[in-house]
Amino acid sequence: MEKFVIVGGTPLNGEVTVSGAKNAALAIIPAAILCRDVCRIENVPTTISDVSFMIKTLRHIGAGVKLIDKSTIEIDSRHVSSYVISHDMTKYLRASYYFIGALLGRFHKASVAMPGGCYLGPRPIDQHIKGFEALGAKVTVEDNAIVEAVADELVGSPIYLDVVSVGATVNIMLACVMADGLTVIENAAKEPHIVDLANFLNSMGADIRGAGTDVIKIRGVGSLHGCTYSIIPDQIEAGTFMVAAAATRGNVLVKNVIPKHLESISSKLIECGANVEEYDDSVRVSMDCRPGKCNIKTMPHPGFPTDMQPQMSVLLSIADGTSIVSESIWSNRFRYTEQLSRMGASITVDGQIAVIHGVDCLKGAPVKADDLRAGAAMIIAGLAATGKTEIEDILYIDRGYEHVVEKFGNLGADIKRVYCVEPFSVSDAG
Ligand code: UD1
Repeated sequence: MEKFVIVGGTPLNGEVTVSGAKNAALAIIPAAILCRDVCRIENVPTTISDVSFMIKTLRHIGAGVKLIDKSTIEIDSRHVSSYVISHDMTKYLRASYYFIGALLGRFHKASVAMPGGCYLGPRPIDQHIKGFEALGAKVTVEDNAIVEAVADELVGSPIYLDVVSVGATVNIMLACVMADGLTVIENAAKEPHIVDLANFLNSMGADIRGAGTDVIKIRGVGSLHGCTYSIIPDQIEAGTFMVAAAATRGNVLVKNVIPKHLESISSKLIECGANVEEYDDSVRVSMDCRPGKCNIKTMPHPGFPTDMQPQMSVLLSIADGTSIVSESIWSNRFRYTEQLSRMGASITVDGQIAVIHGVDCLKGAPVKADDLRAGAAMIIAGLAATGKTEIEDILYIDRGYEHVVEKFGNLGADIKRVYCVEPFSVSDAG
């Protein structure tokens, strides 16, 4: 078992380079099997465990995957032969369900175990299934464990999503890109990684228009070919460093970003009193006073991202005044507030609303990462707090953040990854 040990209280200063976007990589990697060819993908966060699992799954179904350098992979999909993915492969991450759309698109059949991933509340896939069925697939979910999708042929269709779902938008795009005729996804998600996936598929010869708006039109093509493609920078990793800079009253230049993707985060930081300067592909965040309060409501893009809600709440926990945070995407995304309270935060949660009364400072304490972004929030809290914070269950953080210790360490943070022995429990006794 590993944990992070942080001695807080030092303002972060310097420069940090953001990695490629996890959420884009997790859609683009399975998309590569849609061609019977070789794709070279650059700016991949190859060391995060979610990407490792995706690569493992690709190899399991017969794709060749080569690591060309620390952020470039080559996927050879010529010999992909299996359309079956078992629970062993899918249990660790949500995005494994993108193989349903990708395999259906390639083979017209897929058998994929239900996905695992962070628990943020119930995570239904009814809109994915509705989309596959509209394209002509017969979908069954056996014992709530395995999704089987089969189609004699896939035919383009209008599909209206009842909720704005990133996952369903991605999965439908993957399934219909080689279908016969036109698919129109209405009420589609507009996240930057949706646009990135569309750009990747278009580089492979697809005909997709409108990605980034709520109507995406996909005219099916007969086949796709290999390409070279570079993934966009990670919006959420960038936002995490931006908030960390503000929470520690530091001054950090966050490099390799698309400032447009960060607008909702920047504007909330400015509302709290931070200085945010945008450049072509970097953004500088500094804070020289106690943060002010602000209210946040998470929304689909271009609203404030749910994946930045825990990190931002840490900043608000030490703000001057009371802030209200409403989570409108997930029903169970405030579990981390219990950990934050152990560090002295004053937060009351009622359903999907948290009322945060800012305190003067947080104090280091033993805490745990409840999920990926909750873990990132604990790091920011530890860096901003006085004294020592120990974070357990950091495997969640390793799912989505590359080189955490090195990146924060280079900004002057006192953060270490330490190995610790599992606590002895009665059940371990022989
Ligand atoms: C969502 C976020 C994404 C974030 C991820 C992990 C949005 C729009 N999406 O993506 O930015 O990275 O969580 O935190 O903010 N839903 C259904 N039926 C479905 C699919 C989804 O009811 O078939 C509901 C979900 O329960 C949820 C909402 O739609 O309330 C958004 O889900 P979705 O966008 O699919 O989730 P992710 O793709 O995981």
